[in-house]
Amino acid sequence: MWKLVTILVFSALSIQCVKAPSKNNSTLKNSSLEKAKIEKNIQDILKKMTLKEKAGQMMNIGLPSLLSGDYWDSRDTVIFDAVRFKKYIISYGIGSIHNTPGYPLNKEEWYKVVKTIQEAAIKKTRLGIPTLYGIDNIHGANYVNGSVMFPQELALAATWNTRLIKKTAEITSYESRSASLPWNFNPNADVAMNPIWGRIGESFGEDPYLISEMTKAYIEGSQANGLQDTTSTAVCLKHFLGYGAGRNGKDRSNALIPERSLRQYYLPPFKKAIDNGAMAVMISSNAVNGIPCIINKYYITNILKGEIGFKGVVISDFDDIAFLVKGHQSARNLREATKKAVNAGLDLIMNPYDAKVVDLIIDLVKNHEISESRINDAVTRILRLKFYLNLFKVPYNNPSNYTEFASKSHIETNYKAATEAITLLKNEQYTLPLNKNKKFLITGYASNSMNILNGAWSRSFLGRDTAFTDKNKLTILQAIKKQVGVKNVVYVQGTGYKKDLNTDLAIAEAKNVDYIIACVGEIPSTEKPSDINELQLPKAQQELIIKLAKTKKPIILVMVQSRPRIIREIEPLVKSVIMAYLPGQEGGRAIADILFGKINPSGKLPFTYPKYSGNYVTYYHKKTDIRDVSWKYNGFYPQYEFGYGLSYTMYEYSNLRISTDTLIANKVLKLKIDVKNIGSLRGKEIVEVYSKDMVATVSPDSKKLIRFTKIMLNPGETKTLSFNISSSDIASVGLKNKWITENGDFKIFIGGDPQKMLKREFYYHN
Ligand code: BGC
Repeated sequence: MWKLVTILVFSALSIQCVKAPSKNNSTLKNSSLEKAKIEKNIQDILKKMTLKEKAGQMMNIGLPSLLSGDYWDSRDTVIFDAVRFKKYIISYGIGSIHNTPGYPLNKEEWYKVVKTIQEAAIKKTRLGIPTLYGIDNIHGANYVNGSVMFPQELALAATWNTRLIKKTAEITSYESRSASLPWNFNPNADVAMNPIWGRIGESFGEDPYLISEMTKAYIEGSQANGLQDTTSTAVCLKHFLGYGAGRNGKDRSNALIPERSLRQYYLPPFKKAIDNGAMAVMISSNAVNGIPCIINKYYITNILKGEIGFKGVVISDFDDIAFLVKGHQSARNLREATKKAVNAGLDLIMNPYDAKVVDLIIDLVKNHEISESRINDAVTRILRLKFYLNLFKVPYNNPSNYTEFASKSHIETNYKAATEAITLLKNEQYTLPLNKNKKFLITGYASNSMNILNGAWSRSFLGRDTAFTDKNKLTILQAIKKQVGVKNVVYVQGTGYKKDLNTDLAIAEAKNVDYIIACVGEIPSTEKPSDINELQLPKAQQELIIKLAKTKKPIILVMVQSRPRIIREIEPLVKSVIMAYLPGQEGGRAIADILFGKINPSGKLPFTYPKYSGNYVTYYHKKTDIRDVSWKYNGFYPQYEFGYGLSYTMYEYSNLRISTDTLIANKVLKLKIDVKNIGSLRGKEIVEVYSKDMVATVSPDSKKLIRFTKIMLNPGETKTLSFNISSSDIASVGLKNKWITENGDFKIFIGGDPQKMLKREFYYHN
């Protein structure tokens, strides 16, 4: 029930708040006049601001701090606490807000919340600066009840379809904006090289180039109609930098990143995103080389704001000023922590619980420990984002204007994303697709749960609360029943996440069916709760497969997981393997449609699927990394390789042509290849192009993804693809930590299966 108790009463609005979503194609980044006007407005406001008002703008507070009760209380209503509301929104003039009340609101409820805050900020503060609401709408507007919830990022990466990613971002923005939420803490541009990291599922995987292309597409979709448009949201890239590189794979653990790796792998996705209009960056909570990122001036001021030329807002992650004291032990108290972070270049402080940092900033400036110019820089950036988003004129959006919210076409895009993500990893004797007229046992932890398909950040933080689960979406079991009829399906859950429930019953039932569809999975989780000590799929879930295999019935293994859990021992026991990632709300439908052949799978892995927990290397590695005990260089044993994924049809690559066997600096090498569908089904194929430097002073990587494209081919159809390759594509970061291409031999690999690439050598000289 909605019970918005606003103690503050506001008169009718003079603000333009009921504007229908417009389709204005002029992106702000193209209009220098508009930009100049905004810069002038910012300076005019800045001149009028007191130190307290400036410090207030630099603060981002958690919504629950404005509500009655304790921050983490469970709520089912939004009741503003009059005293706190007045203190934070009016007296402190807090610049920004994050988080939910602890339960998901629908768009009309969000509208009331945001409107209440904005009206107070605009009408009751001296300068009338609107607040900026930021939220983790990371796979669709997942904190807006009723919205579509897309596959999570890793799954989106597995589509290798940038047009589709752009579309999902466009929809996410539209549906977020329908709830008056203009700023999204997404996309995640982390380079996830460690499969044990709990948030690999929220990333685009291990490859810097794939991540860069996906991140760029996401940004293009988020602000497709220009940031000023009421259908756009501003992105917040995260987490700068090396969050996914924690040495032990644990949340917020220390990462060791040499300067060369920083520049070669971790920085490029952020740079590309900023070059393409990203206006906010969230600083990672972890430390790199022992230096907490939030106080790393070299990273924030020198590289991000200096070298890359970032003009947007730099925000901290959740409660990181306190974490600097309690976690990192890099500051004695909050005052010292605030000083170090702001001086390093932090503009906006995500301080969920109170506004102490505002007082600290004021005190630090008064004592000349933070310069006024640093504060002006921070506030300029925050105001810039507010102007770019047009919040001064349109501080909230009328939800009833968003008639396309959760529309059929949005749901269709969601379904398409799930179908294109799902990756077929094994299909012995063409077991799949299945014949609908057979009998099936559906079993496993993930077989009948919507929450497991969605993962964390789904209506609630961890996404485990079944009370918030959308009732009209289908689990895998429900979708299969719909396809083959109830009478052809037997369901026994078999196990929980880690424990046996009724495997004996599952074995007994298996005897009466033709096929077993075993759906294993991970418990929805993120951040600290996602830490694990063991990458193996939990024993109980493996045991279920081992016992089922004894029945000799063919098993199809469906994995619903946000990271690659080791399956080395059970994989030989199953006929087919489907990686579903966290496929979102339409995932059940998509999985069923792939199992029964309505959809021909076309996803490919955006990471290396490890076989052993003691041997995980990314596909790009040094030759010495894979030197085996035999002294041979064949110690790279993934379960499945990066870029791998099967189809129900087959593709033939032929006629590789290169325009020259000597690439010269500033010239291009043209690459052409014919790809033919030699099977009998229509399908989509991802074509991958890699380069390899054969000899370099800094030991070269095994290979490097430099291009990809996804094409549709009818049976018998051939398409010719061309790629232009230049020296920057084949470059790497050299001895002086700068991108270079040394003269010498290179190799190009092209194909759709990492094991069957066509190769061609060429020579480069500058
Ligand atoms: C997470 C971020 C998230 C932020 C705000 C943090 O704990 O690490 O990814 O954007 O909370 O909810």
